[in-house]
Amino acid sequence: MPTFPAYRPRRLRRTVALRALVRETHLHPAQLVLPLFVRAGSGVRRAIEAMPGVAQTSVDEMLRDAERAANAGVGGVILFGIPERKDSSGSSAWDEQGPVQSALRALQREIPDLVRIADVCLCEYTDHGHCGILRDGQVDNDATLPLLARSALSFAGAGADIVAPSDMMDGRVGAIREALDSEAYRDTAILSYAAKFASALYGPFREAAESTPRSGDRRGYQMDPANVDEAVREAKLDINEGADIVMVKPAGPYLDIVTRIKHETGHPVAAYQVSGEYAMIQAAADRGWIDGDRVMMESLLGIRRAGADVIVTYFAVEAARRLRE
Ligand code: PBG
Ligand code: ZN
Repeated sequence: MPTFPAYRPRRLRRTVALRALVRETHLHPAQLVLPLFVRAGSGVRRAIEAMPGVAQTSVDEMLRDAERAANAGVGGVILFGIPERKDSSGSSAWDEQGPVQSALRALQREIPDLVRIADVCLCEYTDHGHCGILRDGQVDNDATLPLLARSALSFAGAGADIVAPSDMMDGRVGAIREALDSEAYRDTAILSYAAKFASALYGPFREAAESTPRSGDRRGYQMDPANVDEAVREAKLDINEGADIVMVKPAGPYLDIVTRIKHETGHPVAAYQVSGEYAMIQAAADRGWIDGDRVMMESLLGIRRAGADVIVTYFAVEAARRLRE
């Protein structure tokens, strides 16, 4: 490799056009997915304190947000439901009239080209707030699987293109795949939260989804933030069980995981820039300590550069608009 003075890397940084010519990473609006929190009612819009610009909405208001996203070129939405009733088994998760089921039908009717992803988990639906059902105070992995499958089937029936299990029970991708295939939902894809870490960055989300565990935490089923080989194993397990896309979550502090999983599986990889990552950027920008727009774009480009094909982010609409400018 030639060195200075024969080689001057700065030559290709001189102008906008030269930089664009040799740019290695590109971010497209179609790769972005916007999370939406849906609840019952009409005309409802409840702001979420720690996530400026994000709200819980009823289905009619959700459609406006989804329309804005689609108009900006955003690829898809991922839906979370806040049910009217919670119980110990999370049975509202397969209620045909539930907020996510209603939202999926409305989206399919009104904005059919926007990809519809339904998050599958029980924590929004259980009165104890854990991602599975409890036995003797512990989450019972195997007893939870049929309930997750039942919820996934209900979302598929309501028109989800993709179901996205985020519970971290072992074996859930296989259980969901089998249930979908047995009911002729062979074309419904599975995006698994394959490497979901027990992170402190989910705080604002739990306010948004009203899913904070009443007692204990999620370290018994979510991953230890120290582990990378295990994350690769998790991704491979899910792929073997039928996952079409594997996701890493959170994104920013876990970019090495994104890179390893992408390289070692070659599968489509998603990364979730979670609520705490969003809140930190918004808070610092609000104080004038950073340029929020630029940090937003840099954070998303970094996730893409690490190897993510799909990025789930609360910035989806703003970022898509900036990319189109
Ligand atoms: C629940 C779920 C969580 C998120 C997505 N699905 C939170 C959790 O495990 O407590 C977090 C998303 C975010 O923080 O933006 N299964
Ligand atoms: Zn959960």
